Amino acid sequence: MGRLLSSEPQNEDESFVSIRPLSLGEYIGQSNVKERLSIAIQAAKIRGDVLDHVLLAGPPGLGKTTLATIIAHETGGRLHTTSGPVIERQGDLAAVLTSLSSGDVLFIDEIHRLPHAVEEVLYAAMEDFKLDILVGKGPGARTVRLSVNPFTLVGATTRSGLLTPPLRNRFGMVLELDFYKVEELKTIVERTARILGVKIDDACAMEIAKRSRGTPRVANRLLKRIRDFATVKSKEEITLEIVEEAFKSMNIDEYGLDETDRKILTKIAHDYRGGPVGLNALAATVGMEAETISEVYEPYLLQGGFIARTSRGRILTTKGYSAIGESLINLGNSELRSD
Ligand code: ADE
Repeated sequence: MGRLLSSEPQNEDESFVSIRPLSLGEYIGQSNVKERLSIAIQAAKIRGDVLDHVLLAGPPGLGKTTLATIIAHETGGRLHTTSGPVIERQGDLAAVLTSLSSGDVLFIDEIHRLPHAVEEVLYAAMEDFKLDILVGKGPGARTVRLSVNPFTLVGATTRSGLLTPPLRNRFGMVLELDFYKVEELKTIVERTARILGVKIDDACAMEIAKRSRGTPRVANRLLKRIRDFATVKSKEEITLEIVEEAFKSMNIDEYGLDETDRKILTKIAHDYRGGPVGLNALAATVGMEAETISEVYEPYLLQGGFIARTSRGRILTTKGYSAIGESLINLGNSELRSD
């Protein structure tokens, strides 16, 4: 069962578990999502029902796992964590579902990557808390219907559009998370610094917030790396000088873009003369999986206005050119001259 279900942190966030907010009240930003969840949780409590299934959609690092933890905490259910690619067979899902107690929260990360056959079993489990499993093989095979305890499924996906409509339709709530505002990220940095016992002033917290790509996970990670710099320099407090030095050493620019972002922008500028370029062609040129570009890098590049999407593909914007130290005008001129 350890492989399928885990209550342990599974990724690089492990040391941040203690800094994850445990209640909606502590959770900063995403006000609409918080409000809708709060109403639904209170209503379910008043009625004595389990909370309806919730789908959380949005780019990585915006707090989907944190919200699943909060939902379990606020509803009083135990949290069980697993992910789409880990549940390979119907039997795997059956094992997970039959281990749930009434009111538990099952968090399935990357739910869009559930195998189709598994997804089909999940439908009845979500709708009627029933499990239809095929027992035996050949002519003697038959379907057995088992009951599972009422539970809340919290699914997470990088884009709700990646889900098949029958799965998507079985969620009572589809909550789309947006990138955070700089002010919200600043508050998150200040909160995390307090929990970690690091001293940081307004200007430094703001500088980290501005370079966090709208993403709390990035903000918290940057804060930790900058704290390392302060520690090595035996400084009690994070100063702007330390912040600047750390960003320089991490190769993160004033917009928060890293080497991979700049590589993507540079390839569009140079190999495709600013675009348009299709996702697969771009992925091949950059040497990355198309899915990694579209799910991890592109959302912020689009939102930050560095690239734009057109019907014929991605194009670099004026801001995108300036982020790689080039200008659209200069490039156009040199091309004209070389023609
Ligand atoms: N840590 C990570 N995300 C957070 C959020 N949205 N609010 C508070 N702390 C966080």
